Amino acid sequence: ATGHLGDRLGRPLRDLRISVTDRCNFRCSYCMPKDVFDKDYAYLPHSDLLSFEEITRLARHFVAHGVSKIRLTGGEPLLRKNIEVLIAQLAQLRTPEGYTPDLTLTTNGSLLARKATALKEAGLQRVTVSLDGLDDTVFRQMNDVDFPVADVLHGIDAALAAGLGPVKVNMVVKRGTNDQEILPMARHFKGTGVVLRFIEYMDVGATNGWRMDEVLPSAQVVERIREEFPLLALDHSTPGETAERWGYANPQGLHDTTAGEIGVISSVTQAFCGSCNRARLSTEGQLYTCLFASQGHDLRSLLRGGHSEADLASAIAHIWRGRSDRYSELRVSQPADAATSARRVEMSYIGG
Ligand code: GTP
Ligand code: 5AD
Ligand code: SF4
Ligand code: SF4
Repeated sequence: ATGHLGDRLGRPLRDLRISVTDRCNFRCSYCMPKDVFDKDYAYLPHSDLLSFEEITRLARHFVAHGVSKIRLTGGEPLLRKNIEVLIAQLAQLRTPEGYTPDLTLTTNGSLLARKATALKEAGLQRVTVSLDGLDDTVFRQMNDVDFPVADVLHGIDAALAAGLGPVKVNMVVKRGTNDQEILPMARHFKGTGVVLRFIEYMDVGATNGWRMDEVLPSAQVVERIREEFPLLALDHSTPGETAERWGYANPQGLHDTTAGEIGVISSVTQAFCGSCNRARLSTEGQLYTCLFASQGHDLRSLLRGGHSEADLASAIAHIWRGRSDRYSELRVSQPADAATSARRVEMSYIGG
């Protein structure tokens, strides 16, 4: 019997984010800047990747330890061959209480129009699509591979049609680059059932050249939308949720549920480490207990070293019990020095 775990700060383990590839067909400058992720970049060789069986074996242990939400990420997860086979395996998992864990995926949407139906049939419940603007010129600049916005919008429609909803859309806001897209995005998705969330540009990884003056604080995002649409604060829907939710208000000042809601994810201006229940498994089987960690825990060598299920279970429990990460909270008082920043793992490797 494993029971539910707490880390050193008393935080439970609820959310497992699995990166299934370190590759992506986009080159968003805040994530995989072109000059670093070029033709010569050394991606992981295939033999280093966890197989679907290895991923499912680990995920089964995480679910036994209390994980109730599994998210597939990348890089771009839909680039991993036969991803629907992995989804079908993960969809069989059950929590100790007999529930099916929430099974979802974060994608750039470029392959979604083609794959939405197969993903749904395999057992995927929802998708979150990254989209940084509606204006085609701005969007092509953000993805830096000249990818048209219309194709991502088709992908979102396909996901809705396939029943992969409620669909969330994540927009990373960079002041001076795409902040003029905030209102067009809000207008576009209001009343569609899609939940649009604005993410503060983060200092994750070591290559994106992050600067505080390019962060637009979420409070200002909310203010800009409020000038056009009245908003009211909504409660969290799950404990440890990253987004602060705002509903569109009707003339009586109540939540207009047909208009829907937006969210803001403020990891720079309002850190949410206190309730962080997320573990991240890299493509090669390193377990990270924080997005900003420079060091993971090698689970692949346990998987491939002939260890028993009991050994795996206790290794995971040991790692979580020892966890004390709260990077975003500490950054405020102790900004990272250059040496620490340089060692930080990339988001395309660890998963968003
Ligand atoms: P749902 O709301 O249930 O769909 O999941 P979620 O809130 O985990 O959302 P999602 O996976 O779409 O994460 C949205 C973004 O929030 C990520 O791409 C990151 O930019 C940011 N984020 C998510 N988790 C963390 C975290 O633990 N720490 C920090 N600093 N940022 C995070
Ligand atoms: N800051 C904020 N969000 C980021 N993402 C990637 N890099 C960053 C960053 N530096 C987000 C993307 C996507 C998810 C995979 O991670 O927007 O939604
Ligand atoms: Fe690819 Fe997403 Fe990173 Fe953009 S943010 S480069 S789409 S993994
Ligand atoms: Fe969790 Fe680390 Fe993000 Fe804080 S900085 S919310 S501990 S992943």
